[in-house]
Amino acid sequence: RLRVAVLVSGRGSNMAALIDAAAEPAFPAEIVAVISNRPNAGALAVAARAGIATVVVDHKAYADRATFDAALDAALRDVEPDLVCLAGFMRILTDGFIAGWAGRLINIHPALLPSFKGLDTHARALAAGVKLHGCTVHVVTPEMDSGPIIAQAAVPVLEGDDEDALAARVLAAEHLLYVRALKLWAQGRVRLDGDRVKVDAGDDAHATALI
Ligand code: GAR
Repeated sequence: RLRVAVLVSGRGSNMAALIDAAAEPAFPAEIVAVISNRPNAGALAVAARAGIATVVVDHKAYADRATFDAALDAALRDVEPDLVCLAGFMRILTDGFIAGWAGRLINIHPALLPSFKGLDTHARALAAGVKLHGCTVHVVTPEMDSGPIIAQAAVPVLEGDDEDALAARVLAAEHLLYVRALKLWAQGRVRLDGDRVKVDAGDDAHATALI
């Protein structure tokens, strides 16, 4: 099974979705560690309850991004993951760190990239009046939220939606999408081809595009 480390900063609902999926013996990936940059992240207790090893690399203990990223890199190397999944990890990573994990580092972003990179995606989607919103799993490259797209899921923006209602609809799609993307990756169906990802989703092709 593919060895996966999950990086978190907060409540960890995407992490929990990955842990739950990987708890099935037939799932092709296992979660070997959860690493948080925040000592009080809710995700840590959730992971520990599931019997997953947890590590804290507190960014506040480091003078700058480079030394924090070096500590994070060392913590990751200790657990020897085949793949690193960012799941609500809210730190910008240095180019050096990303280079060290090139092609083995993926992220979930709460918008249909390339729309709404960065923060506050749901408020900005509402302000823009888009009728479809959603989430994206992509390979991490130095330019934030811009790496090759692996999979996306769209949800409708409904009349009367506020930020919380829209966020909840997207989050439910995120949980399905991240599990699906990890499964495809672990099955060897995701291939990097220059600045694109080619996905051999087989019979799942429709579901990969729209959950
Ligand atoms: C998720 O919506 C995730 O897509 C987003 O943070 C939330 C974390 O929730 N990530 C980003 O905004 C990355 N810049 P979770 O901790 O419950 O998974």
